[in-house]
Amino acid sequence: MSPGLQTQLVHGGEESRDGELVPPIHRSSTYELGEPESFDDIRYIRLNNTPTQRAVERKLGLLEGGDALVTPSGTSAIWLALEATLEPGDEVLAPLRVYGGTKKIFDSLRHRESIGVHTVDLTRPETWAEAVTEKTKVFYVETISNPWMLVADLERIAAFAKEHSLVTIVDNTLATPVLCRPLAMGIDISLHSASKALNGHSDVVAGAIIAAPETTLRIRKVANRVGICPDPEACYLLNRGMKTMGLRVAQQTATAMELARMLAAHEGVASVSYPGLATDPVEREIASRTLSGGFGTLLSFVPTGGVARAQRLIAALRYAREAPSLGGAEMLVCRPATTSHAGLEPAVREAMGVTEDMVRVSVGIETAEDVLEDFRQALEKSDRRLQTA
Ligand SMILES: Cc1ncc(COP(=O)(O)O)c(C=O)c1O
Repeated sequence: MSPGLQTQLVHGGEESRDGELVPPIHRSSTYELGEPESFDDIRYIRLNNTPTQRAVERKLGLLEGGDALVTPSGTSAIWLALEATLEPGDEVLAPLRVYGGTKKIFDSLRHRESIGVHTVDLTRPETWAEAVTEKTKVFYVETISNPWMLVADLERIAAFAKEHSLVTIVDNTLATPVLCRPLAMGIDISLHSASKALNGHSDVVAGAIIAAPETTLRIRKVANRVGICPDPEACYLLNRGMKTMGLRVAQQTATAMELARMLAAHEGVASVSYPGLATDPVEREIASRTLSGGFGTLLSFVPTGGVARAQRLIAALRYAREAPSLGGAEMLVCRPATTSHAGLEPAVREAMGVTEDMVRVSVGIETAEDVLEDFRQALEKSDRRLQTA
């Protein structure tokens, strides 16, 4: 019988040498030479092969069923996965709606390496083949798109990619390995901002890539060559944070579902985006098949009353703090227009559907009733009609 998720998170990849229960932080930047088989085996922090990093990579690899590489940020994980897979002149298929930082990487690939990024509509698979040319190399998606919360049909994308000999790259940050294991669905490369739910405590910036051993090795060599490596302390904190991920995500997901329902029924809310609320039968089916154990720890919504109301509402929340990032123990709210997508031109944001009044909530591990009550009172406080009545 293979171990359950929480058992894997606690014990996976842990190799105690001296009886210690906690993998120590190995600060040594360099190690005695010995007889390395190749340049990439010379033990040196910049070559991504020292013990603290290896420990957390073992845990991650077991979790998502591949070989893992930890990187200094989610952004560097995205860049490395694309850079190690694409040649100048290649083309990428991707939905229009992606995390703002990913859009900026796409733009720089286009300008600096003439890599074309062609938009595909994930809800219309019958049109995907029209965007494929002999130069198309990669199909890039987010399991749950940030901040629209649309779930990608990873199985269908993997099958399409096999048919057209494309490499699939999936940003699994919002889904987390608790709810989705992309490699098991036929995806080639899964990546994360480990700054989010993997670490879970808002005190580390890191990234992760998980793929078949030969793919991860190729990406690792690019990282080694250009000097992209995480610090051992970040690896230690990531390993520690991951131990409770199953518990955290289960609670956050359950609360997110309750909050989504409450908001959807509230007269002060115009719309809510949460896969667990999807009314479209196709969307529901895709979300239920792609995610298991819940529909994610994030939701977004648009309050009635425009951006001014959204800002008043955010200011009126007692527990939820306004900050970028997500996936931590504490509940965070933000307007994606001023955070995750702030680096884009307003017209680009608009085309992507990031409206000024959209509010994203990263649900924390606080008691669900307190979370719901916080939003109820903030919706009331921010309603001008109630204040003048
Ligand atoms: C979906 C997604 N991917 C990648 C990133 C980038 O991660 P990092 O901030 O660790 O570079 C983020 C950051 O918010 C994100 O939301």
